[in-house]
Amino acid sequence: MWTSDRAANIALIKYMGKKENGLNQPTNSSISWTLKHLRTRVSLEPSEKDSDIWLPIKTPYPFKMSQEGKRKYINHFQRIKNHFDINEHFVISSGNNFPADCGIASSASSFAALTEVSCEAFSEMTGKKISTVEKAKLSAMGSGSSCRSFFDGWVLWDGDEVSSVKTDIDDLLHMVVIAGASAKKVSSSQAHQRVKTSSLFPGRIERAEARLIDFKKSTKPLDWPRLFQIAWEEFWDMHVLFETSQPPFGYYVPTTISVLNSARDFWEKNGDGPLVTMDAGPNVHLLWREDQEGLALKYFNESLKGKLTCLTNIQEIGFAKI
Ligand code: DP6
Repeated sequence: MWTSDRAANIALIKYMGKKENGLNQPTNSSISWTLKHLRTRVSLEPSEKDSDIWLPIKTPYPFKMSQEGKRKYINHFQRIKNHFDINEHFVISSGNNFPADCGIASSASSFAALTEVSCEAFSEMTGKKISTVEKAKLSAMGSGSSCRSFFDGWVLWDGDEVSSVKTDIDDLLHMVVIAGASAKKVSSSQAHQRVKTSSLFPGRIERAEARLIDFKKSTKPLDWPRLFQIAWEEFWDMHVLFETSQPPFGYYVPTTISVLNSARDFWEKNGDGPLVTMDAGPNVHLLWREDQEGLALKYFNESLKGKLTCLTNIQEIGFAKI
């Protein structure tokens, strides 16, 4: 049996919109922060059956996969088997170290962990070596954002290359505030198609690429308020594309708005605050510098404590066991 795990990641400049070649190639570059504390573990076990199957690992946080999700996962596994010329069948088991029914995108960590463990197993079986960059690229064919989970810290993906970006930030504190936990009506794969029908899509590639340049520039020397501004504009840009697609769709729920308001007000009152972003879902991600821990606790006590659930790597809050 082989086992590996990989972290989730949250994009600050989003991968949204794909080229039409079926290879999950983004229409614009993206940059993410790797969430080392939110992980998926995947195990592979040889099977006597005549097909590959997926099962959830029994963890305190078991997760369900939709039929469509399972199909995409098994297809990706087949892609890796083809790469290594493997014909045997396996049982794939996977599980997260965080509650899965809370609407946090775990697709990046799930696909990255599946790619990682499969490459490890098949390299051992065939003697064929594969580099981290090659693994990341293979993983992107299963789910684009998963390629960024092969690296730590800030990770840049331009469609061709994926790599870590060196900055002066070693680590960040992270909170994801759970605003809604129900299954998404529109998956991110569908969202990639639908945004192109928005009358606001023309110009999107240029806006995202310009923000990315600005974002990278603002990490060294660090200009935190500017990073906040760029990240804020970027997730609104993406969600406005969703809301102006034909037909429109969206992920915000009332709690999303109140958390966004509380983060904006916090910045206004304190002249400082977290980077704020959202994925294709209703939950709000907040990133703080390590030296902002006191500020993060202040925000938590004022706006979240006793009212909302958040998953975090801040030990003192210690909500969910992560
Ligand atoms: C909004 O990587 O889930 O999270 O390639 O179709 O699997 P597929 O899409 P996926 O898209 C992620 C979209 C996003 C933004 C991001 O992570 O960059």
